Amino acid sequence: MSLNNERLQKVIAQSGVTSRRKAEQLIVDGRVRVNGEIVKKLGTKVNKNDLIEVDHVPIVKEDLVYYLVYKPRRFISSVKDDRGRKIVTELVPDVDERVFPVGRLDYDTSGLILLTNDGELAQLLMHPSHQIDKVYVAKIKGIPPKSAFTLFKKGILSKGELLKAKQVRLLSANKQKNNSVIEITLHEGKNRQVRRMFEEIDFPVLKLKRERYSFLDLTGLQPGDYRELTKQEVQRLKDDALEDN
Ligand code: URA
Repeated sequence: MSLNNERLQKVIAQSGVTSRRKAEQLIVDGRVRVNGEIVKKLGTKVNKNDLIEVDHVPIVKEDLVYYLVYKPRRFISSVKDDRGRKIVTELVPDVDERVFPVGRLDYDTSGLILLTNDGELAQLLMHPSHQIDKVYVAKIKGIPPKSAFTLFKKGILSKGELLKAKQVRLLSANKQKNNSVIEITLHEGKNRQVRRMFEEIDFPVLKLKRERYSFLDLTGLQPGDYRELTKQEVQRLKDDALEDN
């Protein structure tokens, strides 16, 4: 879509999100943001470089692109940061499209994160009803008892929120250093979920890495590397996301 000095409602409608009339309603209802700010004025002019979001999901004005990124620690999973920290989109400098991360990894968590400009797929993948495996490896201070793993699978309360793991297993334990390495698989993606689960049992997470997202892993990549997903991988992700709907 060529986009220069166009009316906001037209751009939203052309992106396929909805009709022009409904786009106007979205704007009036305060559900549309331009560059992070809510815009309620119909007819506001936008152009190519503006980030337009409906209900926090960027609309797509470009070819759809999909990247798998190995996020190092100390990067923010966001498209901007008010505190001047490095952001994940800086890891794909050669990508012209306005990509954004699918979900979040904490600033201090490393590992696999997807970047795309496909708002629809991102929303599907992030929706709690879709059972996408997210596999983390956590280095833990101390060696939690097996009973903690059973508890995690049943669900553990943290600040009034029930946090559940799909699978938990001990990969190694070092009695001398008093630490352990645990693999934990989540379907949910609640804020700081792995760290909070271990905080609840008083075994703090020292290091956290996401090793797998659905069928995708970090094979062949170093921290800071990225690669484009193949067409087949994108299709399989879509199929996986829709499967449990
Ligand atoms: N759980 C966390 O605690 N942090 C992450 O970044 C991801 C899952």
